[in-house]
Amino acid sequence: MAAEHPNPQDDSLPHRNPGANAKAVTIRRARTGDVAAVRRLLDQYVHERILLDKAPVTLYEDIQEFWVAERVEDRAVLGCGALHVMWEDLAEVRTLAVDRELKGAGVGHRLLAQLLETARELGVSRVFCLTFEVGFFAQHGFVEIGETPVDTDVYSELLRSYDEGVAEFLGLERVKPNTLGNSRMLLHL
Ligand SMILES: CC(C)(COP(=O)(O)OP(=O)(O)OC[C@H]1O[C@@H](n2cnc3c(N)ncnc32)[C@H](O)[C@@H]1OP(=O)(O)O)[C@@H](O)C(=O)NCCC(=O)NCCS
Repeated sequence: MAAEHPNPQDDSLPHRNPGANAKAVTIRRARTGDVAAVRRLLDQYVHERILLDKAPVTLYEDIQEFWVAERVEDRAVLGCGALHVMWEDLAEVRTLAVDRELKGAGVGHRLLAQLLETARELGVSRVFCLTFEVGFFAQHGFVEIGETPVDTDVYSELLRSYDEGVAEFLGLERVKPNTLGNSRMLLHL
């Protein structure tokens, strides 16, 4: 059972980062014109291997998976996150990133709540994530897991994917350097 959590558009809670204002941010679906901003957000985290790097072509191909957090004042994109469906009952939250300047203002929780709402709409019952942010995801009901949570038939089917994130989900040797130190977490919706 997922933890109680605010609606993605609910920005009424007090925020921890006094310099930031999540109230001035809206969460909306991404458009192709957001790719450059999403790339800039990724640049803040890929060097420390916190997020998987993605070429612009991959971001364009995946744009329909993305939601962004847009500042109302100047329409700057200051957060992003994607939901990638892997199987009938299973999706992954990936590329969830908030601009360092706005961290701790509640924007990450709103983006994640939106991705989980999207997962429910799609009919997915389990959501996976690979992360260093265990406490943050635990607040939405994610729990740490050990094994890859699919049976051998589905595992074999997923091996046919060319997606790097799916390779990380499967724990393939070739991507293990990318995932060092990350926790595998799963939420039952
Ligand atoms: C993880 C990440 C997306 C969180 O974004 P954020 O905007 O800083 O997150 P929030 O402000 O919503 O929450 C951060 C903390 O502030 C608190 N907080 C601040 N304002 C809040 C509010 N209005 N409502 C609820 N919680 C709030 C939360 O309790 C939360 O505490 P927690 O870390 O114990 O859960 C961000 O740190 C990030 O971009 N990290 C790097 C990339 C990454 O690791 N992504 C995850 C794997 S895909």
